[in-house]
Amino acid sequence: MPDAVEVVGLRKDYGTVQAVRGVSFTVEQGEIFALLGPNGAGKSTTLEILEGFRDRDAGRVGVLGMDPGERAAGRELRERIGLVLQDIAVEPYLTVRETVARNAGYYRWPRDVDEVLGLVGLTELRRRKVRTLSGGQKRRLDLALGMIGNPNLLFLDEPTTGFDPNARRSAWQLVRNLRDAGTTILLTTHYMEEAQELADRVAVIADGRIVSEGAPSALGGRDNARARVRFALPRDCVLGELPFAATYAEGLVTVETEEPTETLHHLTGWALRRAAVLDRLTVDRPSLEDVYLRLTGHDVPEHGMRRSVR
Ligand SMILES: Nc1ncnc2c1ncn2[C@@H]1O[C@H](COP(=O)(O)OP(=O)(O)OP(=O)(O)O)[C@@H](O)[C@H]1O
Ligand SMILES: [Mg+2]
Repeated sequence: MPDAVEVVGLRKDYGTVQAVRGVSFTVEQGEIFALLGPNGAGKSTTLEILEGFRDRDAGRVGVLGMDPGERAAGRELRERIGLVLQDIAVEPYLTVRETVARNAGYYRWPRDVDEVLGLVGLTELRRRKVRTLSGGQKRRLDLALGMIGNPNLLFLDEPTTGFDPNARRSAWQLVRNLRDAGTTILLTTHYMEEAQELADRVAVIADGRIVSEGAPSALGGRDNARARVRFALPRDCVLGELPFAATYAEGLVTVETEEPTETLHHLTGWALRRAAVLDRLTVDRPSLEDVYLRLTGHDVPEHGMRRSVR
């Protein structure tokens, strides 16, 4: 199968701003691919070029086998891709249902309007004027508009910004369902948990260049990072008594280990023999956010390491 998206050496300047400086990546059909990166990194610019909204200065771009920069590809491409842009202007005086129904009319084989309203959780609000929707409700409408055309490829630029935690989880499930039904998804996000939960692969872009790419669990060598076992030093114990080398800071003992199972076995065996309590015991590895911060030049101090997602 050809790749859904192929980008090779893509460049885009806005005057003196070099927004995209030689970006290359591919998105396979049927996968969820996430672009991560700081504000101004070039994510939206890249997406807008793939969507055919912006010209590029250099590089090769293939979207479902077509070149979005060629006018001839325009209609066919619009029929087969769906978009949720970072900022979308909708007609404020139409109702939610009218807005989705109107957009359905732009496609040859749209999805069912009421089904889509149900999928994004807007059934109850279908008669509401768009201008009265809350921020998160508007974003759900954007999602509905992105999928109404039943696209092969869906671009989502920060799709869940402004969502409450329940709405975000529903949206993740919706995106997974779309992927499972065969839609390829290219999204951007600032939520590391979203990338971790959703993406098959991620690329981190900083200053217009890709700095790392891979599965969320393996990005930046995450899968090879040493585990850390931490616990509060038991009362009446000293560091030297522990059955391995450890460091102590801010009330917590830290042991870095390649073999967390074995380390825990030694540790708990020692604690039981000593009748010591291991308060606040945790095992973790660097989280996706830790790795992201390192890759984008904001190293976290050791104790700032968050609990890993997995
Ligand atoms: N129309 C424009 N004219 C001039 N500069 C622009 C234009 N659009 C974007 N830029 C600049 O290009 C760079 C990349 O912007 P882009 O919107 O692609 O970033 P982004 O990664 O999507 O950021 P964010 O996470 O904030 O959405 C930024 O420096 C931005 O200021
Ligand atoms: Mg953007």
